[in-house]
Amino acid sequence: MPTINRQVRLAARPSGLPTASDWELTTETVPAPGPGQFVVAVSHLSVDPAMRGWMNAGASYIPPVEIGAVMRAGAIGQVTVSEHPGFAAGDWVYGAFGVQEYAISDGAGVLTLDTALAPPTTYLGALGMTGLTAYFALLDVGKIRAGETVVVSAAAGAVGSVAGQIAKLKGCRAIGIAGGAEKCRALVQDLGFDAAIDYKSGNLRRALRELAPGGVDVYLDNVGGDVLDAVLTRLARGARVIISGAVSQYNADQVRGPANYLMLLVARASMTGMVVFDYADRFPQATAELARWYRDGQITSREHVVHGGIGDFPDTLLRLFAGENTGKLILALDRG
Ligand SMILES: NC(=O)c1ccc[n+]([C@@H]2O[C@H](COP(=O)([O-])OP(=O)(O)OC[C@H]3O[C@@H](n4cnc5c(N)ncnc54)[C@H](OP(=O)(O)O)[C@@H]3O)[C@@H](O)[C@H]2O)c1
Repeated sequence: MPTINRQVRLAARPSGLPTASDWELTTETVPAPGPGQFVVAVSHLSVDPAMRGWMNAGASYIPPVEIGAVMRAGAIGQVTVSEHPGFAAGDWVYGAFGVQEYAISDGAGVLTLDTALAPPTTYLGALGMTGLTAYFALLDVGKIRAGETVVVSAAAGAVGSVAGQIAKLKGCRAIGIAGGAEKCRALVQDLGFDAAIDYKSGNLRRALRELAPGGVDVYLDNVGGDVLDAVLTRLARGARVIISGAVSQYNADQVRGPANYLMLLVARASMTGMVVFDYADRFPQATAELARWYRDGQITSREHVVHGGIGDFPDTLLRLFAGENTGKLILALDRG
């Protein structure tokens, strides 16, 4: 029996924060899978700051979402019907299924989830793309070493919360930067960071001077803007700055670069951009290691699950830019 698929499509390219008129809600009939295909009932959408960048025209590390296209999104769900030998009805899977209730897939880029190891949503969190981003950013690009001081911004978020835990288990001193007293409390008490700084209150530079008197060896930058500029003034000699993202700039018409970049010269430091997709051939090895740490209780996964319909996606996305999430922001789809 045909089933209705509700979808969120990009209707216009936003200026500033996306508004309701940038989106269109459409419905289609779910197609029957052809040979080598299967249908997924999407249960949880990954809501990511990068989505804001994908809405813009122009060259980036991934093509923009076209006007009229279903909004790109990572998601998890269960296979409902399959004509593919590698996927069976009932399997839990992760893929770039988009902001829609059902997706048809040929299996390219789709991962089957081990739900005996972790709940499905954890494959959007610590065992998903954001966990992998933290893993490769710190271990591959940052090359963290025991005893070093590692600073992470948006530390209570999806990437940041895993990054701080990886820094700790590698014997580093982990300092998180996050917005608000409750997030800072959680970083230290729940996630084991050595210290946390509330960038919304007080003086970030002074706090860094006090908490990292020997300087910052590795900075995982998720936010850019003033926070990046402040950390640049506190770099230790040979520091590595990893540009993971710049959430403070994603809604700006004119992106503001760091004023204090000459501190890289003073500290003989490097600043390197990284994109997790470049490590795709190493995802199985990294996921296995993250899964072992997760199973052994060395890392936890924080997920911030919002329940709603597909039409709640636009408002859920805005929560990221208001800092309303702690951990990985996920929209759990209620088909109603
Ligand atoms: N390079 C890659 O391959 C890759 C892959 C995944 C994600 N990323 C990047 O990693 C970063 C974090 O992503 P995520 O998925 O983990 O999101 P997240 O940290 O869970 O959520 C975004 C957080 O950013 C903070 N924020 C929002 N506006 C801000 C502002 N103006 N100034 C400072 N902080 C602000 C908020 O926390 P506060 O309450 O603390 O402000 C918010 O909770 C993003 O830049 C994202 O693009 C990169």
